[in-house]
Amino acid sequence: MIRSLLLTSLFSSAALAQPSLKAVLADASLLKEAGVRVLRTESLTGVGYAQITPDQETKLSRLAHAHGKCGGFEALPLEGVHELNPLVTNVFGQIADQELKNRRFVSSSHAFLSMTENPAITAAVGEVSEDQLRQTVKTLSSFNDRTYNGSRPNEGIQAMRARIEEVLKGATLPVEIEYVQHKGIKQNSIRARIVGSTRPSEIVVLGGHLDSINQEWFGNGQAPGADDNASGSSNILEALRILSHQKQPERTIEFFWYAGEEGGLLGSSEIAQTYKSQKKDVIGALQLDMTLFAGTGQFVLGSMTDFTSAWLRSYFESLNTLYIKAKIVNDKCGYGCSDHASWNRQGYPTLMPFEATFKDMNHNIHTSSDVVDSKSNFTHSAMFAKIAVAYAMDLSNSTLREP
Ligand code: BES
Ligand code: ZN
Repeated sequence: MIRSLLLTSLFSSAALAQPSLKAVLADASLLKEAGVRVLRTESLTGVGYAQITPDQETKLSRLAHAHGKCGGFEALPLEGVHELNPLVTNVFGQIADQELKNRRFVSSSHAFLSMTENPAITAAVGEVSEDQLRQTVKTLSSFNDRTYNGSRPNEGIQAMRARIEEVLKGATLPVEIEYVQHKGIKQNSIRARIVGSTRPSEIVVLGGHLDSINQEWFGNGQAPGADDNASGSSNILEALRILSHQKQPERTIEFFWYAGEEGGLLGSSEIAQTYKSQKKDVIGALQLDMTLFAGTGQFVLGSMTDFTSAWLRSYFESLNTLYIKAKIVNDKCGYGCSDHASWNRQGYPTLMPFEATFKDMNHNIHTSSDVVDSKSNFTHSAMFAKIAVAYAMDLSNSTLREP
């Protein structure tokens, strides 16, 4: 309410636009450490808003890398926008709303979910095939790149669609497959759907980004993106393969391979905004981005606690106890580091299990060396396909939702 007052009174204070400045969200203390002036801080989460020069961007990325992070910030599509502009206020409001929802959940009795084992899920989890994962990752990483703004933005996307169709030959349920075209970029996302039997309007989402990027200074431009993110993409497909010959779920399940994540969550933010404006009822969105490098150990995974839902994380812990039995280490990106942030921004519950803790992650990503090699661990990656299977099968036959 205070927000809407600000909204009207500050509407005119926009843009002293300096075109070389990038509007970003990042951990406020990281920004300060990089010598960047923090224009506004979201007090509940410590997320800061700043406008950075290319020099500061380099500094911030280096510092983030030194802390074991990736780029260290999320670029907003707001050129030179004043920190009190309603657009910034709106993003801050969305971040605060999610944080408050999580705090309410943690302090309520809902925090304890009891769940009993379903033998059909145990059997389905057991069907995950490392060979299938390897084949998909090999196919995707064989292209020069899968960049959203490269010369062939849809080459790898078409290959993935062909691979999806091939893998679904043994399906007993009907699966709808389609490209999702975007306004802002030429690369398409892919969506596959298994329609729910009794509550089709309730949607369980799982996804990962299909695009890749090379960020080497004097590199050859190759971006095989085996770990980032052919791996997560292969896990989502493996879950689809297995679910496509199960009993029809009560809720609809949607599988996404997003475009343009590396350009700033471009595909997923359009999709999540569209879903929100169409009032679609997304029960949860699982994001798999990087699952091939067992940096903290083969049975250990990182779980991002920022831009994710405390309810879905607690639900995931119950699933893990029954079906996966991994060690879960909570960690943070410190910024919206992947497509889950797009869904979270629109108020939908999200979850992001990750290959390792942040500091132990694969440091070859965004280079020509992100390939299948002796460090690629398909047993580790298979754990994430199992998570996707258990999550999709259980949640799509449940009446649970975020309180
Ligand atoms: N896979 C990375 C994100 C990531 C890295 C998550 C390390 C968890 C740990 C993702 O594809 C990526 O590179 N994201 C960008 C940000 C995005 C908004 C462009 C990044 O982290 O720089
Ligand atoms: Zn990346």
